[in-house]
Amino acid sequence: MTYPALKGKFILAPMSGVSDVAFRVLCKRHGAAMTYTEFCSADGIVQGNAVTRKLFFLSDEENPVGVQLFGSNPETVRKAAQEVEGKASVIDFNLGCPAWHVVQNNCGSALMKDPDAIEELVRTVSAALSTPFTVKIRLGFTEHTKNFIQVAQRCVAAGAVAVALHARTSRQGYSGSADWSAIKALKQALPDTIIIGNGDVFSPEDAVRMLQETGCDYVMIGRGARNNPFIFTQANELLTTGAYTPIPAEKKFFLFEEYISLAQEYGLDYARIKSHAMSLTKGIPGAKELREQLVRTTSLIECQRLVDIFRTENGYV
Ligand SMILES: Cc1cc2nc3c(=O)[nH]c(=O)nc-3n(C[C@H](O)[C@H](O)[C@H](O)COP(=O)(O)O)c2cc1C
Repeated sequence: MTYPALKGKFILAPMSGVSDVAFRVLCKRHGAAMTYTEFCSADGIVQGNAVTRKLFFLSDEENPVGVQLFGSNPETVRKAAQEVEGKASVIDFNLGCPAWHVVQNNCGSALMKDPDAIEELVRTVSAALSTPFTVKIRLGFTEHTKNFIQVAQRCVAAGAVAVALHARTSRQGYSGSADWSAIKALKQALPDTIIIGNGDVFSPEDAVRMLQETGCDYVMIGRGARNNPFIFTQANELLTTGAYTPIPAEKKFFLFEEYISLAQEYGLDYARIKSHAMSLTKGIPGAKELREQLVRTTSLIECQRLVDIFRTENGYV
């Protein structure tokens, strides 16, 4: 099994609370070559948890798409993976989450401390699937235990077909900067494996530079896409033509409206929409005031009323 051949180089990162189906479709429409769901608890899936099951609902519009799982018990992750395979192009396993409630359950980046356990899990799960299995890792748990090359090699030997590297340690969280030289070192250590570079791509220029400086196969973009899904179109354009078109404010605003309509189509709750309203309106002139009002809203109707007023007052028609 192999990683899908993507039509572009830039991928939307899995982001809990952000990478919902509407946001993924939005990014796909605006140039993302691949998207990932936010991480889904393998235990939650196996126990039939309704909230978890909603997280891996996939739209027909978003192929190729990866479903990301987290967990620690190989059998549970296997069962969950078998349950979600189907429409997913890839099933990815999270070895990078630094959040305490994940780490204290020996999931996410906590597993980076135990390469034997990782290898066993990857072997068990990949052998049971007819969908490619991949991993997303960090540099290591701490500054003193950077074992990403060893972990990646063992994952690949056990059946993983691609490795995404967020080039920070777990202890770093999101502090400091991502060490892109580690992405380059990983690609050099595993030249025949798909390596996805990740960390601190905030502009189209960063995205193209990561490709060129590290030699990675694909670039995964998280926070840089959250406020600006157009980053994918722009990075694609920069890569192919050497320049890209700036996005006018009204286009950004229409993108936010496009998200709302997708969120309605997929029946997402208002808390989700509100959180995207906050990030997608960043950078739109005059929208600071709109955000101050939106933060107090409790329903889509209120939100849309404010949006309509803003639209008329600012000539976004
Ligand atoms: C709000 C948020 C939620 C995240 N949730 C996940 C997740 O569910 N799974 C995962 O592998 N990484 C998750 N991440 C990490 C991102 O996928 C990515 O590795 C990280 O943000 C670094 O990339 P960036 O600098 O492009 O943002 C999350 C990051 C953010 C900001």
